[in-house]
Amino acid sequence: MTDNQTNKQPPKILSFIKTLLQIILYIPIQIIFIPVAIIGLTDGIYKGIIKSRKMGVSFSACRSLQYKWFMHYFNIRPDPLSIAFTKKFPCESHFGLLSTFGALIISQRLFGFTTRLGKVDEKGEETFISFAGPRVLMFDCIMEKYIDEMEQLVLPGAGFDLIALQFTKGKKIKVFELDQVKTLDVKVETLEKTGIKHDWITYIPVDYSNESWVDKLLGAGFDKTKKTLFLWQSVSLFLEAELVKETLREMADLCADGSIIAQDFYSQAFISGEASKTVKRAARMIEKREPWKFGIDMRNEPNAAVESFLNECGLRMTGISQFGEKLGIEPFYCIVEAEKL
Ligand SMILES: C[S@@+](CC[C@H](N)C(=O)[O-])C[C@H]1O[C@@H](n2cnc3c(N)ncnc32)[C@H](O)[C@@H]1O
Repeated sequence: MTDNQTNKQPPKILSFIKTLLQIILYIPIQIIFIPVAIIGLTDGIYKGIIKSRKMGVSFSACRSLQYKWFMHYFNIRPDPLSIAFTKKFPCESHFGLLSTFGALIISQRLFGFTTRLGKVDEKGEETFISFAGPRVLMFDCIMEKYIDEMEQLVLPGAGFDLIALQFTKGKKIKVFELDQVKTLDVKVETLEKTGIKHDWITYIPVDYSNESWVDKLLGAGFDKTKKTLFLWQSVSLFLEAELVKETLREMADLCADGSIIAQDFYSQAFISGEASKTVKRAARMIEKREPWKFGIDMRNEPNAAVESFLNECGLRMTGISQFGEKLGIEPFYCIVEAEKL
């Protein structure tokens, strides 16, 4: 380290004192919030766990939406659409989130007290417990990179993600979102209650495991001759390996020249819990309702493993971001761009 670099780093003792002061300021704010947080948390648990189960909506899709809420309020990624949606969404409590995390939000805004929820890792430095934010930001980058050159956008397993609304409003592009019927019904009802316009998006209810998503997509007006961006985000882990392969082969078949398939893959070790018991424990609630099934063996040469898997599905890998790469940890997650072979 040069003298210059040393000078730029605040001495450790100063940073320790700063954090200590922030904690001292944070504690009374948190204490004030406790009574309201208890009510909010109860409402959150009721809506997020009991009501979502009764309504039969995807629990993992609810968690993805919740993360967007955190990213908005902790100043990482402004997302007014997801906030407006959450306020009317029957399976989440906006009040519950605000009352539970209000003290942290205020402390971050008033005196810079930042927890994991308010930070984003540098590219390549993502860890098991911190990669949800970088994952969202990277898919945003993929949308920004391709959306203007595409004629169609397809999101199989869109859940409660509003990325299509955010990036395609006012653009001449056909958009198709697919997901299970109950999840899509609740999504459309909530958009309507919120007053968010969505009339340029075609919502297609389908269960990949027993219906042909391709037939449904073609029936809804998808045009095989048009340049398309497929965004398959955090869906493959919930499907059997054969179904993942079949779905990707079908996607490849639907690709006109210049089309792109962007998707993410988890490692087998991550899915099985071998890589991190803490993550597996934390994900227990999701797992109970939507078991994790598919991962790629990434222990040796992860990029080559992903590339060879894509080749088997009739795809050529054009880009890969392997999370945690700079940390030298065992590969656990990657986001990949591919085109038809
Ligand atoms: C983790 S969520 C991801 C949602 C969204 N892509 C995102 O990243 O926010 C997984 C989604 O896959 C959908 N999914 C899982 N299995 C499915 C199946 N067999 N048929 C249709 N959709 C399915 C779920 O309903 C859920 O919305």
